[in-house]
Amino acid sequence: MNDYEKLSEVFRQIADARKHFEKELYVLLVLFEMFKIGKDSKILDAACGTGDVARLVHDRGYHKVFLSDGAKSMLSMVDKAEKWYEDIAEKRWEEIGDLFPRWGKFDFVYFLGNSVAHSPLSVLEEVFGSVYEGLNGGGVLVFDVRRWKKSSDGGLVDGGREPGIWRLLQKVYYDNEKYLLFDKVSYKGGEQRVEYIFFPESSSCNSFCETLSYHIFSWEDAVDVLEKVGFPSDSIKVLEIQEWPYLVVTARKM
Ligand SMILES: C[S@@+](CC[C@H](N)C(=O)[O-])C[C@H]1O[C@@H](n2cnc3c(N)ncnc32)[C@H](O)[C@@H]1O
Repeated sequence: MNDYEKLSEVFRQIADARKHFEKELYVLLVLFEMFKIGKDSKILDAACGTGDVARLVHDRGYHKVFLSDGAKSMLSMVDKAEKWYEDIAEKRWEEIGDLFPRWGKFDFVYFLGNSVAHSPLSVLEEVFGSVYEGLNGGGVLVFDVRRWKKSSDGGLVDGGREPGIWRLLQKVYYDNEKYLLFDKVSYKGGEQRVEYIFFPESSSCNSFCETLSYHIFSWEDAVDVLEKVGFPSDSIKVLEIQEWPYLVVTARKM
């Protein structure tokens, strides 16, 4: 699994520079309005990462917020000074079904921020099947997908990202040292590997890197999976939402 061992420490710095948390909150507020999710609705952020987005949701008055994620390093960044969330669990999506007997059914379950690409569609089929069971009638599943482009040979590629090129993302602090953070992509067997390279400013530090992998699938394939696990096709929507770089897929249990 992508464990975000090193990236967890700089995730907030990257997110702040891109206003990522605020944009994701905006996406959620739009969806809450669309699907009539009220302040008393039960909400699960199933890829909560550092918990910042769930916190913003909570601070807007949605007080029944639960958090889960599979990466200990990301969960260690969640603000736990006061217990603002209902409950929190370290849980891989493959075992997400364990949460519902414990926490009950939900009105809204979301995996946002380009998260589900970390799993292949075969695994997501099981995960979304478990979430379907864990939703109340009328409950909504939400995730987002990358906008892969069709290549000339009919496959999908990341537009503009050629393998092997170092792209400067930004400066970050890691262990109180300043680094230039680059990324570099490669492709193998339906996956994009992204190597995040921490390049030190000081000559006394060494460079290091962490690699994350993203599965390449289209929104159409993701929709097929939702239909397979039981969501009625007319309950599934694919949305473009202002300033959010990914397509947002929603499915409602009838
Ligand atoms: C890009 S981060 C997004 C975090 C958060 N949703 C946000 O937008 O700030 C992706 C998250 O998905 C989690 N993740 C990836 N694969 C997972 C899996 N198989 N089970 C549980 N969590 C997983 C990672 O641990 C990480 O926290």
